[in-house]
Amino acid sequence: MADLSIVALPGDGVGPEVTDALEEVLTAVAARYGHRLDVRRSGIGWAATRTTGTPLPEATLEACRGAGAVFLGAVGDPEAEGRPPEERPEHGLLRLRAELGCFANLRPARVDAALLSRSALRPEIAEGCDLVIVRELTGGLYYGTPRFSDGRRAVNTLVYEDREIERVARVAFDLARQRRSRVTSVDKANVLEVSQLWRSVVDRVARAYDDVELSHMFVDRAAMELVTNPRQFDVILTGNLFGDILSDEASAMCGSLGLLSSASVGGATGLYEPVHGSAPDIAGRGIANPVGAMRSGALMLSHAFGLRAEAEAVEAAVSAVLDAGVRTADIAGPGEEWVGTTAFTAAVVEALR
Ligand code: NAD
Ligand code: IPM
Ligand code: MN
Repeated sequence: MADLSIVALPGDGVGPEVTDALEEVLTAVAARYGHRLDVRRSGIGWAATRTTGTPLPEATLEACRGAGAVFLGAVGDPEAEGRPPEERPEHGLLRLRAELGCFANLRPARVDAALLSRSALRPEIAEGCDLVIVRELTGGLYYGTPRFSDGRRAVNTLVYEDREIERVARVAFDLARQRRSRVTSVDKANVLEVSQLWRSVVDRVARAYDDVELSHMFVDRAAMELVTNPRQFDVILTGNLFGDILSDEASAMCGSLGLLSSASVGGATGLYEPVHGSAPDIAGRGIANPVGAMRSGALMLSHAFGLRAEAEAVEAAVSAVLDAGVRTADIAGPGEEWVGTTAFTAAVVEALR
């Protein structure tokens, strides 16, 4: 029997809706495999700023540090726009990632056969695509200083140190070894000194992995190749900002942003979060796709708790439900019937039993 002690941070918008869905799935997994599940909720994002004045209260951070794993729904609220940076919901998430030391963000993007017709790409291009973006998560343009705006001039700083590149590159090469042994490192080395350093450090790390095939690609070309020939990719290794952009692009190939999951690893405690945001345009309507959250839960089961069979059971249950034609609104075809978050979740829970 394993002890699944999890801190859940529902956050804003659809965050609480997909967190509820994940908790139901974890409850079903714990029941089926005889594990003890303890999910404690804590505040983050705009929901936390509204009640405590800060998007990452100390109590939340403390709870996360003591957890076996942390799940995050989503942060972000239109009401927060224009507020001081330290009150913004996104600031809470960025600080949490840094405090937990989660420097590597794994974002799998696999095209489900059942959803091929929902891909934004032609089926013959999208079919069978299965890649993982390894995004550096605690450095780069998101964290560099100086950063400021005086109302007339704004500055952000792109900085990477060799050790930051090296450690995330190792994660990508190790992952490639468990997959199809190919790494594509994505940068802008034709223009940026930071990318030239990135390239040379990745080349150096690659020497210890002569069984893994490494190639380098400029980010503009990678954005194009992702929608014209995505099957060439196995593991894409890239920096914080490029990884953020390319992962939303990859979601269009899968059919919806609501499908994509992620694991943020590297520190003592891992952070598991769907790739999507708070989706204010659909929040509160009970129609959010919970698959990204559920698949993040599967990543948590295997990475944080070493429960491979349980993780595969969640993946299999989600696939079975999709194969059976159950759809949320975002992945329903024209004229196709769809169900809300709760009914979709009930179907997954049923498949898990
Ligand atoms: P978004 O990801 O919230 O939404 C983009 C589009 O995808 C919207 O049309 C939305 O309805 C749809 N979508 C997203 N998740 C969905 C789901 N589970 N099911 C069905 N459809 C879904 O991106 P945005 O609109 O650019 O940003 C909204 C807010 O979310 C902003 O405040 C942003 O900062 C924040 N955000 C947070 C995270 C995070 O918490 N990890 C990630 C991205 C954006
Ligand atoms: C994501 C989000 C975040 C990011 C924002 C909300 C800070 O877009 O997780 O992809 O840019 O990392
Ligand atoms: Mn993003």
